Amino acid sequence: MRPLKRLKLVLGLLLVPMLVIGGFTVESIAAEVIMYKNPSCGCCGAWAKHMRGAGFVVKEMPREDMAAVKEKYGISADLASCHTAIVDGYVIEGHVPASDVQRLLQERPQIVGLTAPGMPMQSPGMQAEGIPPKHYSVLAFDKQGKVKVYHRYE
Ligand code: CU
Ligand code: CU
Repeated sequence: MRPLKRLKLVLGLLLVPMLVIGGFTVESIAAEVIMYKNPSCGCCGAWAKHMRGAGFVVKEMPREDMAAVKEKYGISADLASCHTAIVDGYVIEGHVPASDVQRLLQERPQIVGLTAPGMPMQSPGMQAEGIPPKHYSVLAFDKQGKVKVYHRYE
C-alpha cells in the first residue's frame, strides 16, 4: 500500500468513531426550549421549572399575542393550552410532562408536536412538583390535522 493511501485509510477509520462519539455528544447536550407565554401566566412558569428540573434549558418569551403564536404553529382551538414551546423543531403545547418531550426527541416521529389541551389539573406545572401526572392525555398532532393519543395518564 502506498503511504498516502494508507494515511487516507487510517484517517477514514478514525473518522467513523469520531462521528459516533459526536452523535452521542449532541444527544447529551440539554435541548433548548423556547417558550412563549403570556407574562401573567403563573402555571407557565411552573411548567418551565419542571422542564429545567429534567435538564432542559428553557427560555421564556413573554408575549401578549398568544393567539397569534398558536396560529403560527398550527394549534387549533381544541388543541390549545396556555403556553406554546418549541423544542428542537417540535411544538410542545401546554402541560406536557418532560418525560414525554424526552421520548419525542428520541423517537423523532413525523409530527408537528405534542399537546395537553386545556389545563389538566394533575399535570406538571398545575400541581406540586414531584406528583405523578394523572387523568389526562398527551396528544400528538401532525400537519394534516391528525391527532392521536401519545401518552395516556390514568
Ligand atoms: Cu398552564
Ligand atoms: Cu402555560
